[in-house]
Amino acid sequence: MRRIPVAQPLLGANEREKVLSALDAGAISGAFGEWIGRFEREFAAYCDCAHGVAVSSGTAALHVALAALEIGPGDEVLVSTLTNMATFFAVHYTGATPLPIDIEPDTLNLDPRLLEGKVTERTKAIVVVHLFGHPVDMDPVLSVARKHGLFVVEDCAEAHGAQYRGKRVGGLGHIGCFSFYANKVITTGEGGMCTTDDPVLAERMRSLKSLAFGGENKFMHAGIGFNYRMTNLQAAIGCAQLEKISAILEMKREIAGEYNRLLGGCPDLLLPVEKDYARNIYWMYHIVLRGRASGGRTDLMARLAEDGIETRETFIPYTLQQHLPLPEGVGPADCPEAGKVAFSGFYLPSGPEIDRGDIAFVADRLLHAIDSVSL
Ligand SMILES: Cc1ncc(COP(=O)(O)O)c(C=O)c1O
Repeated sequence: MRRIPVAQPLLGANEREKVLSALDAGAISGAFGEWIGRFEREFAAYCDCAHGVAVSSGTAALHVALAALEIGPGDEVLVSTLTNMATFFAVHYTGATPLPIDIEPDTLNLDPRLLEGKVTERTKAIVVVHLFGHPVDMDPVLSVARKHGLFVVEDCAEAHGAQYRGKRVGGLGHIGCFSFYANKVITTGEGGMCTTDDPVLAERMRSLKSLAFGGENKFMHAGIGFNYRMTNLQAAIGCAQLEKISAILEMKREIAGEYNRLLGGCPDLLLPVEKDYARNIYWMYHIVLRGRASGGRTDLMARLAEDGIETRETFIPYTLQQHLPLPEGVGPADCPEAGKVAFSGFYLPSGPEIDRGDIAFVADRLLHAIDSVSL
C-alpha cells in the first residue's frame, strides 16, 4: 500500500555537499564556521531584514526574542490561543503571563479586533502567529501596539516567505521568529532564526543565545545567557535549503490550488483562505470539518490512515489545555472561535514532493470518508 506522509523534507546533493564541507573543515559547533554567518545574512536578506540571529530551535528563537525585549515577571503578553504551545512556553520561560486571544474563524489567526480590550497597564508585547502559512492582518495589530507602546513579535515558524501587503513576514514587527524543524518550509533538522531591523536587539539576541560571554574577558559574562546556538553543520544545510525556498513555496501553492479545486465543492469542509492582504504559503493544507461532518474527525482520520494517508490534528488552543496554567479568570469561554475548530480541524499531506496523483487520491478518499462517517 502506498503511504502518503503529511510532510517530508526536500534534501539532496547540495545539502550533502555543504554539510560535508562543514564537517571536513572541522567546524561542527555553533561557535565557529563560515556557514552560520552566511545563513544568517542570506535568510535575513530573504526576509528583507537587516539582521538574522541563528538559534537552536523556533522555541529558542521566541525565548531569546522576548528576553531581548526584557519581558519578565509582572508583564503580560497577548498571544494567539491557537498555536503550537511553544509560543506560550516561551512567554512562560521569561516569567511573564501570556494572555490568550481568540481567532478569526477563516484565517484561524489572532483576531486583531480583540486586542484593544485586552491591553492593561501590564501589557508589554503582542505575539502574533502566522498560522499554517497565512499572515496575520498586521496593520490593526501594529496600530494597537503603537497606541500602547507595545512590542510586536512575529511567530513565523509556519510562514517562511508569506507576505502581508507585499512584504515578507519576519520584518513586520520588532522581531520575527522562525523554526527550521524538519517539517517546516525549509529545514536544518532542528533550528531557528530571529530576524530584526534593530541593531541593538540583534546584538542583544546574539549575546543571549551564546551564554552572554563577555567582550574583553570572555568569561566575565554580560548577564545570564542561554546556549541556543545553531551548529555550523545545521547552518550549512540551511544555506542549501534556502537556495530552493522559492521552488518549495511554488510547490506548496500548487498543492493548495489542487486541493482547493478538488475539495471546493464540499459543503462540509472549511478550506484555507487567502485574504486580499495576504500571500498564503500554505505550509500545511489545513481543513475544518463542519455541518454534518463536524464531529467526525477521529473516524475520518482513522479511515484515511487505513488508506495510507497521514494527517495531523489542529493544535489544541491554550484555553483548552488541561495541564498548563491559565491566568486567573481566563478559560475556554474567552476563545469560543478557537474552541470551534480545536477538535474538528486537521491537515492533509502537504509535503513538497506529493504529486497530483497522490493529491487526487487523498481528496477522493476524504470525500468518500465524509460521506460514510456523516450518515
Ligand atoms: C507556530 C509555531 N511556533 C513555534 C514552534 C516551535 O518551533 P521548534 O519546534 O523549532 O522549537 C512551532 C513548531 O514547531 C510552531 O509551529
